[in-house]
Amino acid sequence: MNHLLSIEKIPARDIRQIIENTELFKRERGSRTLLPLKGKTWGMIFAKSSTRTRVSFEVGIHELGGNAIYLNINDIQLGRGELIKDTARVLGRMVHGCVIRTYLQKDVEDFAYYSGIPTVNALTDDEHPCQILTDIFTIEEKFGSIKNRVITFVGDGACNIPVSWAFAAAKMDFEFRVAAPKGFQLPEEIISRAGGRIYQTENLAEAADGADVLYTDTWISMGKEDEAKQRIELLSKYQINDELVAKAKPNAIVMHCLPAYRGKEITDSVFERFQQVIFDQAENRLHTQKAIMDWMID
Ligand code: CP
Ligand code: NVA
Repeated sequence: MNHLLSIEKIPARDIRQIIENTELFKRERGSRTLLPLKGKTWGMIFAKSSTRTRVSFEVGIHELGGNAIYLNINDIQLGRGELIKDTARVLGRMVHGCVIRTYLQKDVEDFAYYSGIPTVNALTDDEHPCQILTDIFTIEEKFGSIKNRVITFVGDGACNIPVSWAFAAAKMDFEFRVAAPKGFQLPEEIISRAGGRIYQTENLAEAADGADVLYTDTWISMGKEDEAKQRIELLSKYQINDELVAKAKPNAIVMHCLPAYRGKEITDSVFERFQQVIFDQAENRLHTQKAIMDWMID
């Protein structure tokens, strides 16, 4: 049994196994021959909003032969103060696996420990491992190997998405750059824990120069809504626009984990130019998460 709690903790060989199986799950979709969750029920606890993660897990569990129970935090006692460790010990006796989207990384780790069932981090304030595994798969679909590619993240470089990217860099042997203003860069402590080729700068042109992938995310992650006004001011230059794309490699792609806010972190023009890649990336959440769950119950 495996948990997927973070990119930091997952070994490189397991990432490789998941990416290879994603290709199989994508190809075999609809064949109903791969049913590793047959007769099993998985819980899905969500303390934050979600479109892609919720739908792709619910459909994925169903397509693997299992049943999913969606548990919005406000509908269960966790939302009224029941402890995560008590919730985990109850669900651990009733369901066979659990997907959790919440704020604190520690809550997902405690759930995994106390429940004793395969537990997936479906986004915390610290990491979004399902997204980054999907993105690696998507990049390899477009370019072949991710090895030695240059991935440049533009925007809030301190949020969950760039942190998970940073932990992937050394494991998958690519260069990761962050273009962000001071105060929104990756903490030094994350860079030293991650190792590998990670560079950050306030200079957008320098970060985009020769990049294979330009990647962005909202400037206002879930939970940061109170800082919206200040963030929009401080991050206003850190946008993927046509001028920035021109500085990347001629065959570079633009990716976005979504949801996107046009006119903020990305222009409408760039978004629509790269919409095929961006929505392939969204669709691939389904295939990747099926491979993740299959790996977890191994
Ligand atoms: N990218 C992503 O996780 O999207 P949702 O917030 O809609 O799940
Ligand atoms: N950084 C964003 C990712 C959304 C998928 C957030 O945490 O809201």
